[in-house]
Amino acid sequence: MSILDRHDVIERNVTLLLVLSLLVVCIGGIVEIAPLFFFQNTIEKVDGMRPYTPLELAGRNIYVREGCYVCHSQMIRPFRDEVERYGHYSLAAESMYDHPFQWGSARTGPDLARVGDRYSSQWQVDHLNDPRAVVPESIMPRYGFLAETPLDTRLIGADLVANSRVGVPYDQAMIDNAKADLFAQANPDGDAGGLRSRYAKVRVEDFDGDPTRVTEMDALVAYLQVLGTMVDFSSYDESANNR
Ligand code: HEC
Repeated sequence: MSILDRHDVIERNVTLLLVLSLLVVCIGGIVEIAPLFFFQNTIEKVDGMRPYTPLELAGRNIYVREGCYVCHSQMIRPFRDEVERYGHYSLAAESMYDHPFQWGSARTGPDLARVGDRYSSQWQVDHLNDPRAVVPESIMPRYGFLAETPLDTRLIGADLVANSRVGVPYDQAMIDNAKADLFAQANPDGDAGGLRSRYAKVRVEDFDGDPTRVTEMDALVAYLQVLGTMVDFSSYDESANNR
């Protein structure tokens, strides 16, 4: 009996074909999945990653609420055209404190994974107020109302707690000081010592240009300004990736 004849047996017996197909799929699945259980960590640890400050977290909530992810991705793929335009490709670790992550799937507008520090906060505010005032051909909607809306800070402590429950390393001091830290970040004339000791490299600024109150614009711009800036790529060791 040649090998071809034996294959005939399988092809003519539907049950046998099904059983053998399932067996092949199972082997494939095990080969793919089993190694994941033996890696120390499936997300590579990277220096510089810290949880969002309370103000940045509040801004992230506005980003999600307004559906910015519908038009903007936060995921730079390792292709030359993307890396040249947006910067170093995104690392898994860079979204490990994002619940839910904001990778997105559409790019009606540019990727925002590294938009932090690319423009001044004043530019961000002008652009959100009226995108066409800065980029005449823009189709992005206006978000001027954010600058008119005081930020609702009542639940910020609870928000940190919720994030800590899903693994974001907010400690008790961060949770207890959530509200104070939030206001400290938006007030460059105040005492931000505690905030700075809890969150590395935090940017303290009156983000929306209105020092009298903390608005949703302050929070959103604080969030945009931190995107992609936590990891220092001038000292990032690429080869550590393949260990
Ligand atoms: C209808 C799609 C759409 C939505 C929704 C949208 N944008 Fe945009 N966005 C664009 C387009 C198109 C551009 C490119 C033109 C421009 O700069 O205005 C852009 C540009 C930007 C830029 C400048 C990026 C760069 O690298 O130049 C930022 C920052 C930005 N958007 C933030 C936001 C935020 C924050 C939200 C949610 C509050 C949002 N966008 C919602 C379409 C959108």
